[in-house]
Amino acid sequence: MSIYTPDTIQCNGETFKLFISRDQIQQRVAEIGRQIDEDYQGKKPIFIGVLNGSFIFLADLMRHVSIPCEMDFFKLSSYGDEKVSSGKVTKLKDLDAQIENRHVLIVEDIVDTGLSMSYILRQMKALNPASVKVVTLLHKPGAGKYDVKLDYVAFEIPTLFVLGYGLDYAQEGRNLAQIYVLDDTRPASN
Ligand code: IMP
Repeated sequence: MSIYTPDTIQCNGETFKLFISRDQIQQRVAEIGRQIDEDYQGKKPIFIGVLNGSFIFLADLMRHVSIPCEMDFFKLSSYGDEKVSSGKVTKLKDLDAQIENRHVLIVEDIVDTGLSMSYILRQMKALNPASVKVVTLLHKPGAGKYDVKLDYVAFEIPTLFVLGYGLDYAQEGRNLAQIYVLDDTRPASN
């Protein structure tokens, strides 16, 4: 069966339209994978996927990397079922791997206000890794309230609510192979 790539979808009673196509996503993911390959020559980085949203991006990204590498997951509370941030971050699953003296690449689906990423960076840096860099599929620069350095960004987007390719709306839509935006294009946060 072929991969499902419609132009519009319904999710939890709302209409979303195509925003970033499968081809565009795959091309950027491949470029970032090649860049990481070059930047980490001679090293063995550990990719840390932030659950749940990063799982598809992480899986695709790692398959474009040819240097030796490892992976682990870290889980934070999400938006819940809302389209705007609750402003609170809770750790739901800690790392299993030891990251002291390791080269860490944190892999996120989206950096919105930067609250989650600033929390993750604090947690990681306390474990004395050799280096920490951030890879994010999406970045909403307009929403940035927390100053976080993003090392690899696949797409910068306006402050709109999106889903697909790992990102959800009330837990649905993660399976979509493309990224969709809410059809009424209202700003998602203020
Ligand atoms: P931040 O802490 O405000 O940067 O938000 C980061 C987290 O919020 C992401 O890891 C997502 O889980 C969620 N999020 C932010 N914007 C969106 C969106 O447009 N769609 C779905 N989830 C989002």
